Amino acid sequence: MLLVLLSLLTAIHATVVPLVDSSGHSHSQAPAGTVPQGRNITINGVLTYVTLPKRFDPTTAVVLLTDVFGLPSPDNLADQWAAEGFATYAPDYLNGDALPTGGNVTTWAVNHGEAQTTPPLLAVIKELKSRGVKQLAVTGYCFGGLYTVRLVQNNTVAVGTTAHPSSLNVPMDFEVVKAQSHVPIEINNAELDTGFTPAVALETDAVLGNGQYPPGYFRRQFDGVGHGFAVRANASDPVQVAAKQGAFDTSLAFIKKHLK
Ligand SMILES: *[C@@H]1O[C@H](CO)[C@@H](O)[C@H](O)[C@H]1NC(C)=O
Ligand SMILES: *[C@@H]1O[C@H](CO)[C@@H](O)[C@H](O)[C@H]1NC(C)=O
Ligand SMILES: *[C@@H]1O[C@H](CO)[C@@H](O)[C@H](O)[C@H]1NC(C)=O
Ligand SMILES: *[C@@H]1O[C@H](CO)[C@@H](O)[C@H](O)[C@H]1NC(C)=O
Repeated sequence: MLLVLLSLLTAIHATVVPLVDSSGHSHSQAPAGTVPQGRNITINGVLTYVTLPKRFDPTTAVVLLTDVFGLPSPDNLADQWAAEGFATYAPDYLNGDALPTGGNVTTWAVNHGEAQTTPPLLAVIKELKSRGVKQLAVTGYCFGGLYTVRLVQNNTVAVGTTAHPSSLNVPMDFEVVKAQSHVPIEINNAELDTGFTPAVALETDAVLGNGQYPPGYFRRQFDGVGHGFAVRANASDPVQVAAKQGAFDTSLAFIKKHLK
């Protein structure tokens, strides 16, 4: 009864965080000449970009969930995660159909709902687990934010971090986390994000903050930057450069703290 009432109440003031199109993303690219450290392989039928450090613990791995620009984007955070010593896997959960720069995200999204996106993602995770990976950390950017939260809700991973997540239903999706998950979660958000706005971030805190979510919750807001800041930074703008590094460092520290 209480739960029914709760879900009715939350449905009334639910915010669905929109996807942000190309115009809302900074497109400064990785420095010219950046060479990918990893390679594309097929895992359980799914194209996956993999970067393996020289030495790593084979029982843990990072699953990186890209934004709508997918594996073709040269802004390669997978390599940055691998440089910290994690076997890092970025599954092509966009099914070979990443959004081109300037593409219409609304039209594109029609073919990228959970029904299309979840199966390739879970296929890769299943295979990694069958190969002996015991603890997965998921780190998802923009479009990947929804799937980070889903994997946390479903207790599929050991820890989750996300930056400027989209497509979430707030506060409902976090009520579900609180009700059924034991997975710690961390969020980096941008002051100028038009999707996951500071107001939405505060609604999230109202559900998970102040010790209300015992597995672990941390949120950090980066001021003066917008949607996509954790993936792309204008190299000539020190605020953007510092925010991008800050988001990475915050997620890294959270993941290290929560992987046993
Ligand atoms: C991996 O595949 C994507 C999508 O086809 C492609 O754009 C990218 O250049 C490939 N990366 C490497 C390192 O081959
Ligand atoms: C994207 O496509 C939708 C309909 O599919 C249309 O309403 C919208 O105006 C388009 N946006 C842009 C920026 O072209
Ligand atoms: C999480 O669980 C729900 C309910 O069973 C399911 O519909 C969804 O596909 C799952 N998502 C992921 C990413 O595991
Ligand atoms: C990058 O930042 C510099 C310094 O703030 C600015 O002059 C330039 O216009 C920016 N470039 C883009 C593509 O936004």
